[in-house]
Amino acid sequence: MPEPDGAADRMSWVVSQFSEAQGRFDRNVTPFGERVRKIVGWSHEVLPQLAIAGEIFDLIYVDGDHRAASAYRDCLLAWKLIVAGGIMVIDDYGFMPTLPPEKRPQGGVDAFLKAIRWDYKELHRGYQIVIQARSASII
Ligand SMILES: C[S@@+](CC[C@H](N)C(=O)[O-])C[C@H]1O[C@@H](n2cnc3c(N)ncnc32)[C@H](O)[C@@H]1O
Repeated sequence: MPEPDGAADRMSWVVSQFSEAQGRFDRNVTPFGERVRKIVGWSHEVLPQLAIAGEIFDLIYVDGDHRAASAYRDCLLAWKLIVAGGIMVIDDYGFMPTLPPEKRPQGGVDAFLKAIRWDYKELHRGYQIVIQARSASII
């Protein structure tokens, strides 16, 4: 579904999507109990907080704001949290190809991949992109 253009509309759209997604997330992770820690917040705030806390992850799934500049920012911030050899899945790479480029993730993801071109191996390219951070064993 395309996001609305106006800033105020956009915020209320994102917040409504947020609560829908949260409900789905809660239902999906219930079976895993205390093995899952849920953090609610904006990606541009939470991802730097995780980096400052020194957290690192084996697998990161990027699936937030669809605008190209936001996708670029989220991918870069998330990439800093990945372990060597870790996997990052970027959703919605092929989202609504007829939308203007700034309103869909593809341009932002392409710019991100260019920025890290020496640091990853591409595992899959389709509607999603799957990449693996290089490690000593891969190079
Ligand atoms: C493409 S949907 C995917 C949601 C989830 N993966 C699902 O299937 O339910 C993107 C979600 O990210 C939220 N979102 C948009 N911009 C965000 C941001 N900057 N930080 C955190 N979440 C954001 C939206 O409200 C929406 O719920």
